[in-house]
Amino acid sequence: MNNEKKMHNVLVIHGPSLNMLGLREPNIYGNTRLDDINTELKKLGKTIGICVETFQSNSESAIIGALQKNLEKISGLLINAAAFTHTSIAIRDALLLHTVPIIEVHLSNIYKRESFRHKSLIADIATGQLSGFGVNSYYLGLRAMADILNTPDS
Ligand code: DQA
Repeated sequence: MNNEKKMHNVLVIHGPSLNMLGLREPNIYGNTRLDDINTELKKLGKTIGICVETFQSNSESAIIGALQKNLEKISGLLINAAAFTHTSIAIRDALLLHTVPIIEVHLSNIYKRESFRHKSLIADIATGQLSGFGVNSYYLGLRAMADILNTPDS
């Protein structure tokens, strides 16, 4: 019997200004740097059968490019589109190219903040959303992704 677990490729996309985590409004976004989040995601991924690739850009066009480039190469997508969450039909459309599970992530609870953050253009095409758990939103999101990918017929 082959007991080897199948590894799934999951792409984690971080949108604008998330490269400034640690320096950016730490009272809202915390003190952890993006590099540390990415390292932790890769480490966690290894323990739950997920090979994590990460991508950050401040540019809508580059995020759309990454989504197009990875078509049919990935089993799941975790995305914190940051401010583009609330504005970008173009990123929504590029996400819709994919048929794999999409998990939307936010460090802060977007529903507790300004009303312009209450609308997500991704929420209704995502499998689920984690918002308000700080860096744990990413880690819980990755664990949820592993559950989805390891459930037969998901
Ligand atoms: C964010 C919330 C967005 O409203 C904001 O524009 C961000 C970060 C979050 O992770 O809490 O840049 O996505």
